[in-house]
Amino acid sequence: MNVKDVNLLTENQEYIKRLRAWNEDCEKQTGKRRGVFVTTFGCQQNEADSEKLTGFAVSLGYVPVGSPEEADLLLVNTCAIREHAEQKALSTIGQYKHLKAKNPQMLLGVCGCMVTQEHRVNDIKFRYPYVDFVFGTSSLHRLPQVICDKLEKGKRVYCPEEKEYLVYEGIPIHRENSYRAWVSIMYGCNNFCSYCIVPYVRGRERSRPSDAIYHEVKALVEEGYRDITLLGQNVNSYGKDLEETCDFADLIARLSEIEGDYKLHFMTSHPKDATHKLIDVMTGNKHIANHFHLPLQSGSDGILHKMNRRYDTEKYLGIVSYMREKMPDVAITTDIIVGFPGETEEDFEATLSILERVKFDMIYSFIYSPRKGTPAAEMEDQIAPEVQKKRFERLLALQNGISLEKNLPFVGKTVRVLCDGVSKTNEEMYSGRTEEGKIVFFEGEECDKGNFVMINIKRAEAFALYGEKKK
Ligand code: SAH
Ligand code: SF4
Ligand code: F3S
Repeated sequence: MNVKDVNLLTENQEYIKRLRAWNEDCEKQTGKRRGVFVTTFGCQQNEADSEKLTGFAVSLGYVPVGSPEEADLLLVNTCAIREHAEQKALSTIGQYKHLKAKNPQMLLGVCGCMVTQEHRVNDIKFRYPYVDFVFGTSSLHRLPQVICDKLEKGKRVYCPEEKEYLVYEGIPIHRENSYRAWVSIMYGCNNFCSYCIVPYVRGRERSRPSDAIYHEVKALVEEGYRDITLLGQNVNSYGKDLEETCDFADLIARLSEIEGDYKLHFMTSHPKDATHKLIDVMTGNKHIANHFHLPLQSGSDGILHKMNRRYDTEKYLGIVSYMREKMPDVAITTDIIVGFPGETEEDFEATLSILERVKFDMIYSFIYSPRKGTPAAEMEDQIAPEVQKKRFERLLALQNGISLEKNLPFVGKTVRVLCDGVSKTNEEMYSGRTEEGKIVFFEGEECDKGNFVMINIKRAEAFALYGEKKK
């Protein structure tokens, strides 16, 4: 069994005890508890991991603080998906040098996907000598140990990757939000899409036992969480590695029987495993959001083959048409990579034409970024950056029109929105999201935050809807 309970790891208990005592001493002497802050890059999986890191630190006696400046334990949870993500993490680590200078007692740790690569560990080793410890994605459960080692031995700690990636249950979670929650249902990826670093930095697919997920979701619903997102790199291959017989469709069918006022979301699905059974479970289910995120990546069969995606456009379009037949209003969103090696003008136009055909509600588009160690990085015919950029802009221009076209029919309708409070981008308005993931702006009140509100839509733009609260 590849599941371990951190509470039963006896060596961890020792470290936890020592750190608690150390933090209690500090509180006694200074009257203040040491603070923890985690800076997160990357996907929702990483956000979820950061909530575990904070939760773990709290169980060691730290208190969460609101900024890196206030932290005595500062962690940078990194991403490696594209060059830009790595550069952002490195530059942030660079900026933290002055914090370390101001507060030499502060511990600075770097973790996550970027430092699960040897060449990046070496970068930290040689270019960022003030970083106290480094640990990769397989070693999250070792946080107490790396802190103890640093404190007791004084030297920098480079935690080696585990031989095997396991599922660790029992790490406390400090949730950032009191009404939206992430729940990891599986970790890792087996797909080895030729451009992607994830399988190298997150290990093979491993699913959490369905009972553990059920109890976590049930507790969240009971606590009043309204929006629960099930996370995995490829959620619809959930359960393939379990001894119990429970696939992803079975799992969400079971979870959606939990009573309460909530919606389940999930990401990400892989088209090769998107079954009719899953769509049948979603159909008419009041607890499952009317939204499907199904990354297409490219509209060219030749490119999909070179990407090792293991489906073609015919298969993809077949899933979309079954979904629309069963769930006519479903919002479908996707990911597209522009400028993959060897992408011709014709390949790119095939992507544009599938966008016009499917009419996605929204797309997340990315310029291809070569990742060291992946097959695509070694392919010939890498596309020139200016060509990539021009294609990227054409893609966005086309999709802006389509997104607007998809949003216009909402004008005059009333939608149910989970309110997030005052908008971060427009402080005069409140904002929230529909179950389809559409952003809605309206004049709200503080008591709306964290609750569902009914909004009459008055105006639509490509990326947002605007409305008034229903009287
Ligand atoms: N497991 C998910 C998401 C993985 S990462 C899936 O399979 O869809 C999120 C998105 O980042 C991917 O869907 C892909 O569109 C993009 N991506 C991954 N590697 C990339 C790379 N090397 N360059 C550009 N975009 C990339
Ligand atoms: Fe990466 Fe492909 Fe796995 Fe998604 S399915 S994480 S794109 S290898
Ligand atoms: Fe980035 Fe790792 Fe997620 S590479 S996208 S943080 S799985």
